[in-house]
Amino acid sequence: MKKTQLLAIVITSAMAVVAFESCKKTDSKTTPAEEFVANDSTFKDFMTWTLVKTNQGPDPALGGVAHSGNDSTVKRDVYVKNNQKAINGVYPVGTLVVKHSYNPGATVNEYTAMVKRGNGFNPSGGDWEYFVIMMDGKIATDNGMKLRGADLMSGMCKGCHAGATTDHLYSQK
Ligand code: HEC
Repeated sequence: MKKTQLLAIVITSAMAVVAFESCKKTDSKTTPAEEFVANDSTFKDFMTWTLVKTNQGPDPALGGVAHSGNDSTVKRDVYVKNNQKAINGVYPVGTLVVKHSYNPGATVNEYTAMVKRGNGFNPSGGDWEYFVIMMDGKIATDNGMKLRGADLMSGMCKGCHAGATTDHLYSQK
């Protein structure tokens, strides 16, 4: 075998190793990030989740009307699935939270929810998705449009929850 041939073989196999190594690196980079996309069955039976808080009466953080916080008879029950806590100040992807606001006469009966969706869904809002849901847990609709999104209510949910101490959540640390 000529020297140049041998050199060519050595170089080619070296390139193959490099290609293989970089391929491995690309693989780990392109592994899809974790994402939790809620559907109509996600919030089913939320009343069996951990009731982490029952709030009543006005809360300055509610700015008056949000979650009917201006009505002193309204109670606000907050349920967190599996009592999930923040890990180093951040909730894991798939964290599920439902809040039920109601009063004795049932003139107020609202269900809102938050889901840690992840995967760069909305980085400026901590990748949370906001929802209005129904009593049976299904996602509510308005004129055929699902009431869900990072900017639900023209960004009001997200804007106000940005003021919470732990990763956009007020009632759980
Ligand atoms: C003006 C501020 C404000 C707006 C707007 C607002 N929230 Fe909240 N939200 C709060 C506060 C404060 C709490 C906790 C205190 C309470 O409810 O008593 C809360 C609690 C919650 C909880 C229970 C988890 C937690 O953070 O304690 C959910 C779920 C929730 N809100 C969803 C929503 C959704 C969905 C929207 C929009 C449709 C929304 N919120 C709009 C202030 C706001």
